[in-house]
Amino acid sequence: MDVRVWFNICLICYHTLAAESVCGKLLFATTQSIMEVDVDTQSVTELVELGGIDVMSLDYDYENKYVYFPRIQRGDIVRFHYPSQNITLQHVVNTSFAVVVGIAVDSANDHVYWVTDSGNTLSRCKSDGTNLVVFNCFSGTVKIRLDVKNRWMYIVYYNKGISKSRLNTTDIGMIVNFTSSNTVWVDTMDIDLKEQRLYWMNTNGDIKSADVVGYDVKTIISINSFSIAIGVSDSCIYFANNTQLFMTTKSQDSTPTVLYNDNNTIYTIYAFTSTGMLIAI
Ligand SMILES: *[C@@H]1O[C@H](CO)[C@@H](O)[C@H](O)[C@H]1NC(C)=O
Ligand SMILES: *[C@@H]1O[C@H](CO)[C@@H](O)[C@H](O)[C@H]1NC(C)=O
Ligand SMILES: *[C@@H]1O[C@H](CO)[C@@H](O)[C@H](O)[C@H]1NC(C)=O
Ligand SMILES: *[C@@H]1O[C@H](CO)[C@@H](O)[C@H](O)[C@H]1NC(C)=O
Ligand SMILES: *[C@@H]1O[C@H](CO)[C@@H](O)[C@H](O)[C@H]1NC(C)=O
Ligand SMILES: *[C@@H]1O[C@H](CO)[C@@H](O)[C@H](O)[C@H]1NC(C)=O
Repeated sequence: MDVRVWFNICLICYHTLAAESVCGKLLFATTQSIMEVDVDTQSVTELVELGGIDVMSLDYDYENKYVYFPRIQRGDIVRFHYPSQNITLQHVVNTSFAVVVGIAVDSANDHVYWVTDSGNTLSRCKSDGTNLVVFNCFSGTVKIRLDVKNRWMYIVYYNKGISKSRLNTTDIGMIVNFTSSNTVWVDTMDIDLKEQRLYWMNTNGDIKSADVVGYDVKTIISINSFSIAIGVSDSCIYFANNTQLFMTTKSQDSTPTVLYNDNNTIYTIYAFTSTGMLIAI
């Protein structure tokens, strides 16, 4: 190939990646809808009408391009193609009306994982709902995040801390222990795979971060109120304060700005990242 053509291709790649590395798109859910926010254009679109269903977690399969989410009052997990002009929900699995609060997709093995409200089990099935496996883990589960490439699983327990294990729960250990667990607990956690850092928010309104072995714990900001939704993209942190959706940078002195005001409580946020997009290419 001509060197110049090659150089131009590289330049296009570079610009595409640079564009994706700015705050891009995110999804959030209230009991009424799953909404898509384009941060650059500030446009907000309703993707799914929920009509009073609690959705406490969202995850995206970058390889097969599906958004997965549990519907608490329907007792199931469903998925839809995204992006798509025609959003149709597909049934994945019934969850026996357990309060599913955390979900994660392992696209490499076609597995869907979920944890229930303050439970002590982790469930897994294939994306067609078959091969159900239930693992025991620590009690108080709230959210789950995967590093599919490096085959690690991170689970946050509301009053305890964050565990790291292999995807089959072997080699499990607490990499973060929350202190003064009687007064401080956590309902939400996300991972930045590129930076290899975890982010969570506690009842004191602190957004905290640590690396994936639990070191270098720092407080990014304190908002003096409780958020149950956090999403981390390449350069931004999104969080909700009841009905308000905020955006902030990862630097410790940043000031959050309001991205959107909903009429309903925002329960969960999913932020797309360029690391994930690279898997999808
Ligand atoms: C939307 O998708 C569903 C399921 O894939 C299909 O049955 C339906 O015909 C599609 N509708 C349109 C307008 O494309
Ligand atoms: C899942 O639940 C739905 C509705 O409650 C029911 O119609 C369906 O038969 C169930 N499927 C399985 C595999 O249990
Ligand atoms: C669990 O997964 C690890 C790494 O992925 C593997 O080495 C180990 O054999 C697995 N253990 C079981 C019991 O499946
Ligand atoms: C957290 O606590 C557990 C159990 O007491 C301990 O094994 C682990 O080393 C602790 N982790 C950190 C990062 O302090
Ligand atoms: C979040 O909401 C609480 C009460 O509604 C308010 O006191 C607090 O200032 C808000 N936080 C931010 C960052 O706006
Ligand atoms: C919130 O409610 C008001 C009054 O009903 C309505 O005008 C507005 O469009 C609603 N906003 C959203 C984002 O749904």
